[in-house]
Amino acid sequence: MNKFYITTAIDYVNAPPHIGHAYEKIATDVIAKHYRQRGIPVFFLTGTDEHGIKIQRTAAEKGISPQEFCDETANKFKEAWELLNIKYDRFIRTTEPDHERVVQHIFKTLVDKGDIYKASYTGLYCTGCEAFLNPRELTEEGLCPNHKTKPQEIKEENYFFKLTKYKDRLKNHIKNTPGFIMPEYRANEVLNQLKDVEDISVSRSKESVSWGIPVPDDESQIIYVWIDALSNYITGAGYLNNDELFRQFWPADVHMIGKDILKFHAIYWPALLMAMEIPLPRTILAHGWITIDQSKMSKSLGNVIAPKTIIDAYNLENGDPLRYFLMTTTPFGRDGNYSDEEFKNKVNADLANNLGNLLNRSLSMLVKYFDGHITTETGFSEIAQMAESTKQTVIEKFNTYDLTEAAEAIISLVDTANKYTNEQAPWALAKDEATMPQVGQVLYNVLETMRFVSVLIYPFTPNIAQAIWEQMSLPGNVFDVLLSELKWGGLKQGKIASQDTVKPVFLRLDSELAGEKKKK
Ligand code: ME8
Ligand code: MG
Repeated sequence: MNKFYITTAIDYVNAPPHIGHAYEKIATDVIAKHYRQRGIPVFFLTGTDEHGIKIQRTAAEKGISPQEFCDETANKFKEAWELLNIKYDRFIRTTEPDHERVVQHIFKTLVDKGDIYKASYTGLYCTGCEAFLNPRELTEEGLCPNHKTKPQEIKEENYFFKLTKYKDRLKNHIKNTPGFIMPEYRANEVLNQLKDVEDISVSRSKESVSWGIPVPDDESQIIYVWIDALSNYITGAGYLNNDELFRQFWPADVHMIGKDILKFHAIYWPALLMAMEIPLPRTILAHGWITIDQSKMSKSLGNVIAPKTIIDAYNLENGDPLRYFLMTTTPFGRDGNYSDEEFKNKVNADLANNLGNLLNRSLSMLVKYFDGHITTETGFSEIAQMAESTKQTVIEKFNTYDLTEAAEAIISLVDTANKYTNEQAPWALAKDEATMPQVGQVLYNVLETMRFVSVLIYPFTPNIAQAIWEQMSLPGNVFDVLLSELKWGGLKQGKIASQDTVKPVFLRLDSELAGEKKKK
């Protein structure tokens, strides 16, 4: 692998970011950070989806222009990602002129090729999905299965994309390309949807939607928001704008998306790319939904939680606890839940009691018994072997994007180091001068394990990882360490701590979000 290009879905700016959006961006950032640790050039794209009827309406309700409204909300997304330490390489907005040019180019190319044609159409349109629904997809009550709203019947003269032309090729691609749709259990769902596909409408009349990119040479029509949105993945990598970047990074290695938009990414997008004769992305990675106290977040239920609300309520210094919690709350791919109770319990147990406490007591003992000096470097031991094998496990788990299992493997290494410390009881060994060398060895083993842990956990909790690194007076930054350089024995003899440098890297959470809410 000589490059790694990963994208997120681009969020609709009709509402500000919530922890479901955050979940996806954190997961993508965790993967990007991990691949950077492999020494591979990474390009991480995220951004906002700014056209369409929902945005047009919300702006109108607020009495501002759609562009002003988009500017405002796009900034809220950027601020949220900053708060959560999400480090993307490019933030794309679909209202950028570069992007509009790409979308019009695609449209024109496909019209010229005969893959886009004009026809009259009657269909059931869901504004929540910004898509026409197949009558077979509706619930028994005739509602959109995702939004539980009644779709509108719309009759229009539209442009259509010949999706059916690519159906067989796509079916074969899905069947014969392991890892194209991940988790693998979702591939069948897509194959079933593929059976029903028809040509899709790819424009709307200007009367029904005005906020969008005009069809080239036909001002009466606006390009369908999904064609516009999906194309962000090539614009973002330089298509038509930066050939060198595009040649280096396309095709995308991972499109990270929510399971609700899998059809658009696993059917519409590859078919469009086939029509454009552009190589297909390697993996469409579908994550599950984050629910709040077991129900789906929605504006109407009033249970939407912004990442900042949690950060403020618990007075967090940074986004690490939320990053950690969201990444470990559920096996990646499945739906996960947020509740104040679970959040607090999980981060207190893993980050404060387990990880933070172990580092703190080991360094305190080092100060107490050796004036903060590492006095010995140990070679092979069971714990050394466990640290090395955890590194391998983490790499393997990332190969299949099992982020939750990667995080669990790291915490289980911390657990082992804790048990090892308790079994060895260095405080008891320290009572006898004759066993002091052993105390030095035990502390070495634990602290060297903590060095491994800080590098391995860095993608999940970058601030805590750096704090561990600094607590042990290690040189440079934790993120500069490549996984290939992470080998037992990196911690060297010498003074690494003193009474006043030993500080907890993570404090237990005490304030409660629920309590804050009640106060209001
Ligand atoms: O679908 N839990 O935008 P969007 C987890 N603009 N993920 C969630 C979630 C939740 N509760 N709610 C939303 C769109 N998401 C389009 C995408 S991509 C070319 C265009 C995820 O703002 C959702 O699954 O409705 C999607 O991946 C992303 O947030 C943006 O959702
Ligand atoms: Mg949505």
